[in-house]
Amino acid sequence: MGQRVIEMDNLTKIFGEKLIAVNNVNFAVEKGAIFGFLGPNGAGKTTTIRLLLGLIRPTAGEIRVFGEKMTPDSSNLRRRMGYLPTNPRFPPKMTPIGYLDFVGKLFRLRREERMKRLSTLIRSVGLLSDSSREIAGFSTGMVTRLGLAAALMNDPELLILDEPTSGLDPAGRKSTLELIAELGKEKTIFVSSHILTDIDRICTDVGVISEGKGIFSGSMREMKKSTRSHVVRLELEGDVGKFCESLKGVKWVRGFETRGDFGVDITFDPAMPMADAVEEATRLVSSQGLDLISISSSTSSIEDAFMGLLRDEESHRFVTAA
Ligand SMILES: Nc1ncnc2c1ncn2[C@@H]1O[C@H](COP(=O)(O)OP(=O)(O)OP(=O)(O)O)[C@@H](O)[C@H]1O
Ligand SMILES: [Mg+2]
Repeated sequence: MGQRVIEMDNLTKIFGEKLIAVNNVNFAVEKGAIFGFLGPNGAGKTTTIRLLLGLIRPTAGEIRVFGEKMTPDSSNLRRRMGYLPTNPRFPPKMTPIGYLDFVGKLFRLRREERMKRLSTLIRSVGLLSDSSREIAGFSTGMVTRLGLAAALMNDPELLILDEPTSGLDPAGRKSTLELIAELGKEKTIFVSSHILTDIDRICTDVGVISEGKGIFSGSMREMKKSTRSHVVRLELEGDVGKFCESLKGVKWVRGFETRGDFGVDITFDPAMPMADAVEEATRLVSSQGLDLISISSSTSSIEDAFMGLLRDEESHRFVTAA
């Protein structure tokens, strides 16, 4: 197992003795991972990130960063971290060069070092042609890229990004994600989002939070696997009604559903490998004298996977409440 950069132990944050924003969360992030922190609005993502940065103290449990407990006094740990808040704001009268220079001064970098870093960063986030313009006229995408550059001025080992794609159009979203993926080759990244396809594109690992509770943690692959549906999707030519009749007595078939006049979705025994189900289905089609136009395994999309996790969590809660 790799080195753990972030460890949450029963991390809990209660606001005003009533609102449990983060409820007993146990997530860990390994060095080098791009960890997607997924959850719907109000799930507790930003609160967890503020705990992670030591901006607020946990009500119970603890969070360790680089193996040390994070507290509001942990400036030694924060020096090794970069942070991009949701929809960051910058002094409108400043230019990217002026602002990044200011950030470099906060980190007590020497002038020479500041100039070197800011010029590299401005180029890598694609703001070179706007580097001397006032921030006031910047688009959301440009502001996000400036925010990323600012978060990188101290050359952090760990980068914390709170919904970096928030408010971006598809092109802005794509270029921001590409930039994050590129940064992920060198740094450990903790990135929150409520948009699954974003996380799916760039993350190696994922933690899902819902109503303050951690409901899944593992590799992206595991998340998809654990929520995969077991369906083969057929497109047929011939007597589809007769084919469906013949499915009724078949052992591995758990159920079926027609789609239009020629489509049939067969749900199969989850213990059966997908390849076997495809083979069996093909055999059935020809034994019934139909032509197969197409066959595909319908693995659920990442969106379905996520909704499935949330639903499981809800039904589980219902059971425990009953
Ligand atoms: N300082 C605070 N005082 C009281 N309640 C708070 C505070 N900060 C957050 N909350 C509450 O905690 C819960 C979690 O909020 P949080 O901002 O962490 O969610 P989020 O996952 O970041 O949501 P979003 O996707 O909308 O950004 C919400 O119910 C919110 O109202
Ligand atoms: Mg938030």
